[in-house]
Amino acid sequence: MKTEFVKIDYEKPLAPQLESAAKILAEGGLVAFPTETVYGLGGNALNADAAKHIYAAKGRPSDNPLIVHIAKPSDAERYAITNELYQKLAQAFMPGPLTVVLPKRDVVPFSVTGGLDTVGIRCPGNPVARELIRLAGVPIAAPSANLSGRPSPTTAAHCVDDLDGRVECIIDGGESEVGLESTIVKITGDSLTILRPGAITPEMLREICPSVSIDGGVFDKLPEGTAPLAPGMKYRHYAPRAKVYLVRDAGGEDFDARVIAFLQKKLSEAPETGILCFDEYAPSLSGKNVLTFGEKHDEKAHSHLLFDRLRHFDETDATEIYATAGTTEGIGLALYNRMLKAAGYTVLYI
Ligand code: TXA
Ligand code: MG
Repeated sequence: MKTEFVKIDYEKPLAPQLESAAKILAEGGLVAFPTETVYGLGGNALNADAAKHIYAAKGRPSDNPLIVHIAKPSDAERYAITNELYQKLAQAFMPGPLTVVLPKRDVVPFSVTGGLDTVGIRCPGNPVARELIRLAGVPIAAPSANLSGRPSPTTAAHCVDDLDGRVECIIDGGESEVGLESTIVKITGDSLTILRPGAITPEMLREICPSVSIDGGVFDKLPEGTAPLAPGMKYRHYAPRAKVYLVRDAGGEDFDARVIAFLQKKLSEAPETGILCFDEYAPSLSGKNVLTFGEKHDEKAHSHLLFDRLRHFDETDATEIYATAGTTEGIGLALYNRMLKAAGYTVLYI
């Protein structure tokens, strides 16, 4: 298949630039498109076959439910049974990086929800995504636009690497601002459970809803045989080819000096060692596979760059990667969750 490529000019009206991609979606084809979290691999969410094509293009097991993307928050009512808490969340955080799991309506095929009677609904913040959905005239089912097991794509180039020749169209709308996938919450009555942390943080959700809990799978590896609440969380995710180790503070004086000494030792033993570290450490570390992802306390920058950096390591000869991890406050929770998964939950306390 020849993949059509569309580069967005944000200075010009979006509709004419998105017309052909919207037509592809309406006719049952697949389009990789930008969102503020990560790029999505979209198909018509009301068409059971489109979901099958998505699974095939990604190489993903078909019991993993897809998120249904809508052009405006009020469209949720057509595809799911909403309630007062949904309205409050929509008012506060939509359009934006939040997915809400609700009971599904019959129009949404079970092939899209992986057989579940609930559906994840999301109204993306990126205007290209919303205009594309509006023009297609149907809701868009979209997982992240990576091959299964690869880090989520945050640029069109990442989508090309994974999906060129496998989808009808790739839209280049620039870098995804957040860089990590949306926060997923499940509504049960007037309580919320965070199934996957993201840029809408527990602190932000608690301002809207007094009862917010965090699913156990967010911090810890689930015991063998346990089914996670968000089925996708069970798969190996975000993992580069090399083995990743997270480096955290064991407490005590001068963490920076301890980490720098530890990383220097690793580099002296194996100069090709991959390092993903705070900007401040880089001048003390020399090695061909030393990458930075922002200043020490800038979790937003780390989130924005994490997947790009993990993908970059796949093009190097590094067989081990040591990554510095900081706070789990705010967006730090989502960042740490993705880093844990990339590291297969291996954390070194230094
Ligand atoms: O930011 C995002 O959410 C991106 C962009 C493209 O919107 N999409 C994304 O999709 O991350 P995906 O397929 O890579 O991850 C979807 C996650 C999976 O872990 C899946 O199990 C969970 O959402 N999920 C979807 N529907 C669900 C449901 N009804 N109940 C529980 N979990 C659900
Ligand atoms: Mg994904």
